[in-house]
Amino acid sequence: MLMYKLNDGQVIPEIGFGTYKLNGRKGVQSIVSAINNGYRMLDTAYNYENEGAVGRAISESGIDRDKLVVTSKLPGRYYAYDDAIAALQESLYRAHLDYFDLYLLHWPNPKRGMYVEAWQALIDAQKFGLVKSIGVCNFLPEHLNKLKQETGILPTINQIELHPYFNQADMRKFDKDNGIITMDWSPLGRASSVLKNPVLIELSKKYNKSVGQIILRWEHQLGTVPIPKSSSPIRQVENLSIFDFEISNTDMDKINSLTKSDGRNKDQDPAVYEEF
Ligand SMILES: NC(=O)c1ccc[n+]([C@@H]2O[C@H](COP(=O)([O-])OP(=O)(O)OC[C@H]3O[C@@H](n4cnc5c(N)ncnc54)[C@H](OP(=O)(O)O)[C@@H]3O)[C@@H](O)[C@H]2O)c1
Repeated sequence: MLMYKLNDGQVIPEIGFGTYKLNGRKGVQSIVSAINNGYRMLDTAYNYENEGAVGRAISESGIDRDKLVVTSKLPGRYYAYDDAIAALQESLYRAHLDYFDLYLLHWPNPKRGMYVEAWQALIDAQKFGLVKSIGVCNFLPEHLNKLKQETGILPTINQIELHPYFNQADMRKFDKDNGIITMDWSPLGRASSVLKNPVLIELSKKYNKSVGQIILRWEHQLGTVPIPKSSSPIRQVENLSIFDFEISNTDMDKINSLTKSDGRNKDQDPAVYEEF
């Protein structure tokens, strides 16, 4: 698997595994299966309440810890400096890990005005060795500019909603211009109607790949890092098998033309939507 170099020198795989809704024993089994099927980057969050399942799956998988990139996220209710450090430590205890490879602010929650303080905590957590790399989710250009102005340090990653109905062209360009890697959440649109889109079905037949594979390959060719979730071992393998074909420029354009200004799955615009 190819690796992407982050702006702090660390590296991450070109695709990862989402774990939202993978909880408890069944969740552990799905995550162990994903690791055994070849995923080397796992995406969890304090708010998914499954950092324990992720940690348990890592130990049951038998894979060396240092062969995996483990991501977690700080919830908005812990953006005060001391709370942020304590929440991160709690997350590590839950996962039975000494460090996360990537640790992200989960939402900017701009009305609360706390994300710069939380970012400062992440900068220090990296110095303390609790995390290797730091980043954000759902940040808009104005939020990223503020981090740069106030701390001088830009995130390595911006994890944002990205799928064919919401291709994030402007945000991707901003991230790229600033040396930030765009990571895609709900890369399959959380199995919404996008999987039944006629253009994607046509391309699926043309390339002899599933609609899911067409979408994930498109995201890969956009230069982004998708993190599809699947509880099914078969779909886990399917979603990893996207590196043996190439979508033509014309067909990339066709997929890009499916994007809509209101294409977000749940209307979660980070300028106004808040999550704690
Ligand atoms: N930072 C954030 O704010 C944020 C927000 C949302 C999500 N995330 C992260 O992003 C990850 C991925 O996003 P997501 O879980 O929302 O949605 P997703 O990965 O786009 O879609 C997952 C859904 O698609 C189905 N699926 C998986 N592979 C498929 C395939 N090849 N064909 C058809 N259906 C398929 C899954 O069902 P089965 O399980 O039955 O296969 C599941 O219902 C999350 O798990 C989480 O780690 C981050």
